Amino acid sequence: MYGRKKLKIGTMIHGVGEKFSDWRHPDMPADASVSFEFYKEQAKLSERGKFDFVFIADALYINEKSNPHYLNRFEPLTVLSALAAVTSNIGLVGTLSTSYSEPFSAARQFASLDMISGGRAGWNAVTSGLEKTALNFSKRVADHPDHATRYKMASEFVEVMKGLWNSWEDDAFIRNKKTGQFFDPEKLHRLNYEGEFFSVQGPLNIGRSPQGQPVIFQAGSSEAGKAFSAQEADVVFAIMPTLEEAQQYYADVKRRAAALGRHPDEVIVIQGISPIIGETEEEAVRKYEELASLVTTEQALAFLGRHFEHHDFSQYPLDEPFPDIGTLGENSFRSDSDRIKREAREQNLTLRQVALREATPRTPFMGTPEQVADLIQTWYAKNGVDGVMLIANLPSELAAFVDKVVPILQERGIFRMEYEGGTLRENLGLLSGENCYAGQHQLILT
Ligand SMILES: Cc1cc2nc3c(=O)[nH]c(=O)nc-3n(C[C@H](O)[C@H](O)[C@H](O)COP(=O)(O)O)c2cc1C
Repeated sequence: MYGRKKLKIGTMIHGVGEKFSDWRHPDMPADASVSFEFYKEQAKLSERGKFDFVFIADALYINEKSNPHYLNRFEPLTVLSALAAVTSNIGLVGTLSTSYSEPFSAARQFASLDMISGGRAGWNAVTSGLEKTALNFSKRVADHPDHATRYKMASEFVEVMKGLWNSWEDDAFIRNKKTGQFFDPEKLHRLNYEGEFFSVQGPLNIGRSPQGQPVIFQAGSSEAGKAFSAQEADVVFAIMPTLEEAQQYYADVKRRAAALGRHPDEVIVIQGISPIIGETEEEAVRKYEELASLVTTEQALAFLGRHFEHHDFSQYPLDEPFPDIGTLGENSFRSDSDRIKREAREQNLTLRQVALREATPRTPFMGTPEQVADLIQTWYAKNGVDGVMLIANLPSELAAFVDKVVPILQERGIFRMEYEGGTLRENLGLLSGENCYAGQHQLILT
């Protein structure tokens, strides 16, 4: 049933971008993060490129040091619902936190998006790394669950979501005007879930959506994050700087899934990439340098600080070895903070070097359309990825990718010419949610 799928491609629509200064670039609408027109154009362009999905990330805490996009942006489910109305094939994936939401509301929201879009909804389950998020949810910083607890909560949260999505059988709603029978009570199932963190009776107050089970994405790459992905996710996101690291991650995810009795192809590995495309390699490098030059050292330090609970790195000398900050970051975005500390130590980097590498990373996916296509093909052929997600710095880079790189990948037969199906699950080549989870959920249905 499973086999190597064609390359998958998604795009992250992220307004004025992840970097501090992309909004100042002449090609970037400065209000992109709250411009529905911008989101619509990006989604339609991605759909013209036959991409599998658009992705809207999210987080729940900001302060004066947050980057411009984080300060003023759309809530994912709301903007995805609007995008559903102006697109027809592309998947619509949004982030929602398992540490600061209720599974009943979340299941309802994603089932609604799945119905509104005709089966194109996907959920990126994140555990929310920043401890001060607690302050926005009637809690104290000390109440922010630790890393391990967050992932335990996330597992329960997903189990409840999957169970609630099975509240109604496909044909539960009869709607017979003559007899007056609206639904068949036999086809309604209460979940009656009692866990350590959540207790949810159900049923959900929306019927079974076209996918049955919206597609589940996950992006944590710590040990706990990978274990969670192997158990629960259909798609995993990561960002690895080299093919070797991508291959290791890929093999690890597939091995963990297989150890749990899943087919390795049931978990799709997607790497985030930020391509920079030029007519020549030199032009691409020039574009990168232009973008990098917009970032000040102060902004680079603030960007770095977010990985460590917004730690103030401006207190340390810039040109001395990366400071010893102890265990800071371990309870937050752990895989990122561990990697940054490890690279600084192993490569003997100064604080300035670390901050600039993080804030203006030099992507390997930089060059002519052929060079970028070659590299993507290599990563795919050598089992580094099942697919890529564009985290484009500028809207012009997404357009260049769609117009110049996609046709090369199509010509080489590794990317689709047309959408295979109507739902995100079908286009990703995943089994239907019903088949995937029916066995598992019969256990908890009443
Ligand atoms: C492509 C990608 C997208 C992500 N999107 C989000 C997001 O929308 N919200 C969020 O809080 N974290 C997001 N993350 C961060 C992860 O959820 C996770 O916190 C981080 O990778 C650290 O993982 P760990 O805690 O398992 O170490 C994303 C990570 C990647 C690689």
